[in-house]
Formats: sequence, structure tokens, C-alpha cells
Amino acid sequence: MSFNNKNIVITGAASGIGQALVMELAQYQCQVLAIDTNENGLIHLAKKLDSSMMQVQILVLDLANPDQIQSMVPLALEKLGSIDLFFANAGFALYGSFGSQNFALRQSQIMVNLVAPLEGLYQMLQLANGRQFSYVITASAMAKTGMPHYAMYAATKSALDRFAECFRFEQNPGCHLMLVYPIATRTEFFTGQDQANIPWPSQSPIKVAQSILKAVRQKKTSVYPSFLFRCMISLQLFNQWLMYPYQLWNKPKQG
Ligand SMILES: NC(=O)c1ccc[n+]([C@@H]2O[C@H](COP(=O)([O-])OP(=O)(O)OC[C@H]3O[C@@H](n4cnc5c(N)ncnc54)[C@H](OP(=O)(O)O)[C@@H]3O)[C@@H](O)[C@H]2O)c1
Repeated sequence: MSFNNKNIVITGAASGIGQALVMELAQYQCQVLAIDTNENGLIHLAKKLDSSMMQVQILVLDLANPDQIQSMVPLALEKLGSIDLFFANAGFALYGSFGSQNFALRQSQIMVNLVAPLEGLYQMLQLANGRQFSYVITASAMAKTGMPHYAMYAATKSALDRFAECFRFEQNPGCHLMLVYPIATRTEFFTGQDQANIPWPSQSPIKVAQSILKAVRQKKTSVYPSFLFRCMISLQLFNQWLMYPYQLWNKPKQG
């Protein structure tokens, strides 16, 4: 896939991996809708891209809010006309023990990290009108392996992983779904957290964005921006693959 003349939506675009995706795409003649809660960050981003080939529009949405999640794809279609590529990238983690987070904090992690990407995909399937599209969800290495003090976050990201595994047995012609599994990435994600607690190894958001765009072009279904991490979980991936015949055996004959 070439990114020229494509209509692209990116959530969590004001910072980190989302912002790096926008910056990487700025070398193409494409239309991007950058979505985030951080209005100043979006305005700053759009100004930086004033003289690029890309056309950027911005949209402020709080993806912890169910009504705003519901309006995400309809608003994006209103602004872009159609959508070829959707990056459901916004997400956050609250570091700390499970007991230290109240209901509102637990709920907002579930809404932003899990409900928003899945609802966005649902809406895309309803509204794409037969048009082909790629839908890329930024999951996490924690979808595959848990880390201390990230229980709620890891729960949301691993749920995305299982969702994708089941979804791929359904017939959704025209929809290319890809999940991204970054390891620790040096972004605002860790702001407010003791630097000593940032897991080793780590990578830059640009490296993650480049890996994602390369994988979109190749229509991959998953991308591991860290080769080391992929090696570390190779036995787990092999074990998952062993279950494939059993999963296929349970696939309904129709649909
Ligand atoms: N950094 C890592 O180590 C790492 C590793 C694996 C996966 N990931 C995943 O990568 C994705 C991007 O994270 P990042 O590292 O780029 O972090 P980041 O620099 O904090 O960027 C995340 C962006 O999402 C926005 N956002 C947060 N809550 C939102 C909401 N309710 N509605 C709309 N936008 C919201 C943030 O806005 P505000 O600034 O206003 O909060 C921020 O601009 C996330 O899904 C994260 O889980 C990150």
C-alpha cells in the first residue's frame, strides 16, 4: 500500500507513537485526521506540518467518554469523506497496584485502551460501504506478557490480542486488521513515573512508527517493533500456532 492520496485517521496523535506516525506520513501526499484529547498538542502538530505535502485536520475527542467514542468514525467520515487507514493508537497506563486505582481510573483505561479501538472497528465495518480499509490497533508487548504494577493496563491490551485472534476467523472481506506490540517506548506514556521503573530495553517512537508503516504496506496482521522481544516470546507464538488446527476445526461452516 502506498500512502499517497490516502485518507488516514490517527488517534492519540498529539504525542509519542501517534505523533511519530503523523510525522512519518508527512512525506506523502495524504489527508490525515489527528484525534486526541490534547487540543494544544494537536494545534502545535498541525502548525509544524503547515508546509508539508500532507493535509492535516484535527479533532478533539475524549475517548474515555462513550458518546465521543460513538461519534469518532461518523465525525472522521464527515471530515475526510472516506477512510483508507485507521490507527487506533490512543492509550494510557496507570502504574501502580490494582488496589491503588479507583473505579473511574480503572474504567477510563478500559474505555480508551479497549472499548474505543473495538468500537471504532465496529463502526468502520458498518460505515465503510464496501470500501477496503486497514485498521491498526496499538496493543503492547504487555498483550503477550504481564509486568508488575500494570494489571489493569495489561488486561486491556491482552483483551485486544484475543479479540483479534477470534475476529480473524470471521469473514470481513475488505478489512485488514493489524495489531502492534511495542515494548517500552520513550514517550509521555511514562510521565510521572520513576525512570528506574521504565522497563528495559526501550525504543524510540520513530522506530515504532517506521515498523508500523512498513508492516501496513506489507499487509501484515501483527508487528513486533523489537526483534529481541519477538525472539523472547517465540515459544509462546509457536504454542499459539499449535492451537490453530483446533481453532479451525471449531470454525462454523458459514460466516
Ligand atoms: N510508550 C510505551 O512504552 C508503549 C508500549 C507499548 C504500547 N504503547 C501504546 O502505544 C499507544 C501510544 O502511546 P504513547 O507511548 O505514544 O503514549 P503518549 O505519548 O502518552 O501518547 C498517547 C496519546 O494518547 C492520548 N490520549 C490519552 N487518553 C486519551 C483519551 N481519553 N482520548 C483521546 N486521546 C487520549 C494522549 O493525550 P494526553 O496527552 O492528553 O493524555 C496522548 O497524546 C498507547 O496505546 C499505548 O498503550 C506504549
